[in-house]
Amino acid sequence: MFENLLQPIALGPTELRNRIFNPAHGTTLGHRGVVSEELIAYHLARARGGVGLIIMESMTVHPSYSFEDAFLYAGSDRIVDGLNRLATQCRAEGTPVFGQLFHAGRGVRLSHDGSRPLSYSASDVPDERYRVVPVPMPNEMVWELIESYVNAAGRLADADLDGVEILASMGYLIAQFLNSLTNRRNDEFGGSLENRMRFLREILSGCRARIGKGKTLGVRITLDEKTENGQPTAEMIEICRLLEVDGHVDYFSVISGSSASPQGWIHVFPPMSVAQGFVADDAARLKQVVDKPVLVAGRINQPQLAAQIIDAGKADMIGMARALIADSEFVAKVMRGHSEEIRACVACNQACVGHRLAHFPVSCIQNPLSGREHSLGDVQPTSEAKNILVIGAGPAGMKAAVVAAQRGHRVQLHERSGRSGGQVNLAEALPGRAEFGGVTTNLQRELERSGVQLLLNSDLDAEAVARIQPDHVILATGATTRLPEVEVEGVELVDAWSVIRGEFDVGKNVVIADWSCDWTGLGVAEKLAREGRYVRLMSGGSVAGESIQGIVRDHWIGILHGLGVEMTAFARFYGALDGSVYFQHMTGGEPIACEKVDTIVSCYAPQANRTCDWVEDVDGLQLTRIGDAASPRTVEEAVLEGFNAARRV
Ligand SMILES: Cc1cc2nc3c(=O)[nH]c(=O)nc-3n(C[C@H](O)[C@H](O)[C@H](O)COP(=O)(O)O)c2cc1C
Ligand code: SF4
Repeated sequence: MFENLLQPIALGPTELRNRIFNPAHGTTLGHRGVVSEELIAYHLARARGGVGLIIMESMTVHPSYSFEDAFLYAGSDRIVDGLNRLATQCRAEGTPVFGQLFHAGRGVRLSHDGSRPLSYSASDVPDERYRVVPVPMPNEMVWELIESYVNAAGRLADADLDGVEILASMGYLIAQFLNSLTNRRNDEFGGSLENRMRFLREILSGCRARIGKGKTLGVRITLDEKTENGQPTAEMIEICRLLEVDGHVDYFSVISGSSASPQGWIHVFPPMSVAQGFVADDAARLKQVVDKPVLVAGRINQPQLAAQIIDAGKADMIGMARALIADSEFVAKVMRGHSEEIRACVACNQACVGHRLAHFPVSCIQNPLSGREHSLGDVQPTSEAKNILVIGAGPAGMKAAVVAAQRGHRVQLHERSGRSGGQVNLAEALPGRAEFGGVTTNLQRELERSGVQLLLNSDLDAEAVARIQPDHVILATGATTRLPEVEVEGVELVDAWSVIRGEFDVGKNVVIADWSCDWTGLGVAEKLAREGRYVRLMSGGSVAGESIQGIVRDHWIGILHGLGVEMTAFARFYGALDGSVYFQHMTGGEPIACEKVDTIVSCYAPQANRTCDWVEDVDGLQLTRIGDAASPRTVEEAVLEGFNAARRV
């Protein structure tokens, strides 16, 4: 089934052992613009996991865009040594390494000191997403930029990387030059297609001359920017055709989306509400026009889908950024014939994109080792096998049980309900969120392989605990819902979890009192609006969904808008009387009244579930409390704390 996917391929002079590559992705694991031990350990784990090619994260090339806290900087010779160590170690595991060169142009949101930096572009066309007005690059600066790309490519070659990829995609600087709507220049870099292509062509020919024929040179492009005023797809295909004729490029890598608009940005990091493999048809269109290999990435998280795309001839290689963040051994599992063991990414964007955009190292909600390979190392066997009792089979308890068992402990996992998964079971029941249930599916499979004894419908008491004789108890009982302490009369008040479970017949006119600003309010609003109700979502933050990852939130807000959900920000739930629900504006202090309301759905702060706290009084027990049982937060913290607790017992 995976025969073609696992076939070797050559990109220019570089031979690859299979068709799966790790596309460029910023990790925030570098240190002050250079490669760190953390970054080496991160990529080494993926090379050991069998990936055919690693394309390293965007490196900046010129001081006009060089934020060293976030990006590696290839504009200085300081980059060479670390890159060389990284590439040498990955190659020793069978995985060549390319570096990607990048300049954001007007797509600037970062600053070294809090002030807004000058941004540069082809012309002074404003940017919708960052609301930036760029400085048009003087002609001599354009030539200087070209030289910077070429010098940076030279440094990558000096570091003995196997190849260089030029990022000409996602609406960034080179794309700003290519697009007639963002390039209004009247020098040799603007006007005709030939002139708009000159910037990219000079970069590619210069890079080829500098790195020679012994290294691969590729270009990353976007065929569908999903953006008003984006580059027309047909013109971009023509650009690729002309680049192939020029003869400098060894491959084309296709991605979707753009940095220039919220909708475009969503498609650069597509959340689970975007269809899997949605870029494959773009790649197929390009393949009809060029002979060089075409690479594709975007929501491909299963080997079956990857194989289908390769088998159908739509692309020559499959990129998996988040799938490999979630499971560094993805490829090795396919090669071993155990693809069912893959911890599939659920496209929640929380700990990968979310961390990255907040300037923290990437990780994964399902895989705390990801991004922490250097500091944590492999899970070590215990020198003293103990009896471990884990109470509660939500993500925290499941992860704790798996890791404790992997270390050689004897582990019992008790769950009061008839199903493992905890709140994940609620989240996956919402419209368009079924894939989130993968978190439980993945953990369940890990449990089965680890030898943990899972006991469902198990209501423990002190006697039962005494019989088990645990050396250590991990308390992972999760959270329970609660209602806010406000006066409500003459309107039905129900909690969101009960609504998701279908336990209430919610009325026609609904107000959601959304303290949480997370998936609950957005999800319940979508569910009820799809069921034909008039929904007002009153959020306790500056925007609905403020607490969740921004891209997931933004896509969801668009869906709610389309469904006619009314959204109000900064609304503090105050009370209700006879069909009217009252809020107070959190900053202005004015009252906000919602009339003719049948049902209020409350998304209020959950509380730690303390129903098993009596174990604290059992003599001689060591106890660790994790996840929501300590304080209600998200799956990420639940899994991380389960992982850490099991490493310590
Ligand atoms: C944390 C993160 C950072 C990224 N940074 C880059 C980057 O530096 N350069 C780039 O070309 N793409 C970047 N991407 C986009 C990925 O290469 C990839 O195209 C995208 O994540 C879709 O693929 P996936 O569904 O396999 O994750 C990044 C993606 C992630 C998740
Ligand atoms: S945090 Fe979510 S989106 Fe990111 S790699 Fe993990 S499962 Fe995938």
